[in-house]
Amino acid sequence: PQAFPSASQADIGVIGGSGFYSFLEDVTEVAVQTPYGDPSDSLFVGEIAGRRVAFLPRHGRDHHLPPHRINYRANLWALRSLGVRQVIGPCAVGGLRQEYGPGTLLVPDQLVDRTKSRVQTFYDGEPLPDGRTPNVVHVSFADPYCATGRAAALAAARGQDWEAVDGGAMVVIEGPRFSTRAESVWHAAQGWAVVGMTGHPEALLARELELCYTSMALVTDLDAGAEAGEGVSHKEVLAEFAKNVDRLRGVLFDAVSRLPETGERSCACVDALDGWDPGVELP
Ligand code: ADE
Repeated sequence: PQAFPSASQADIGVIGGSGFYSFLEDVTEVAVQTPYGDPSDSLFVGEIAGRRVAFLPRHGRDHHLPPHRINYRANLWALRSLGVRQVIGPCAVGGLRQEYGPGTLLVPDQLVDRTKSRVQTFYDGEPLPDGRTPNVVHVSFADPYCATGRAAALAAARGQDWEAVDGGAMVVIEGPRFSTRAESVWHAAQGWAVVGMTGHPEALLARELELCYTSMALVTDLDAGAEAGEGVSHKEVLAEFAKNVDRLRGVLFDAVSRLPETGERSCACVDALDGWDPGVELP
């Protein structure tokens, strides 16, 4: 029996931009294959504050995958197969209100799906390459994010003197283009707080694997409907993200240290499949 977890085991997953993985201590690169295809990249497993963490660059380490081509199913499956049970997903978003300008950190409590082309379930009744066929499953998604993870993220931000916005709806668009001004005005008029391109189906697929999922949304720009200028540019998004990446990493590391041990999770995420037979064994 192993006294210590193997170098490729982790209990917390971080799906994020490329500025993070090299900061884990003693990183082990693990290539994982899944019945749903290949994840965005290798997983980088290391330690933060004594916790085992697997980092996955969402767009690939060289950022070659646009939001609609990310294999979200493979990413979540791969994380779970290393032992991960709690996931934090930092992402860049546009603000839909004047007061949520660049540099705002928001921990959403709701999500609106405006994507069009993405496979959003593991349990689609289609046979997998290994011959198994998942059953149909309808999970509850009324509250898309883990309550415990959200509290950890908010406390971590506060601890780093960065008062995060507690709650708000993230609308996820298909991309890769940004919204038109009319779309953006409409999103804002619905009362939605921020707009991004990767938050869905990432959170839903985590739920389908009984993983806790917490989103940390960094506002990089005011979206077209919330500003009077030229609209968003990708350059603006990257520059603002780069400006905040050190702070964000600090909050992330602190949030990791505040998450419960895997065996001590007491949130509803743990029982997401209660009453369902997924027809395939979860990794
Ligand atoms: N990611 C960063 N800024 C964004 C915006 N304005 N719209 C959609 N996704 C974004």
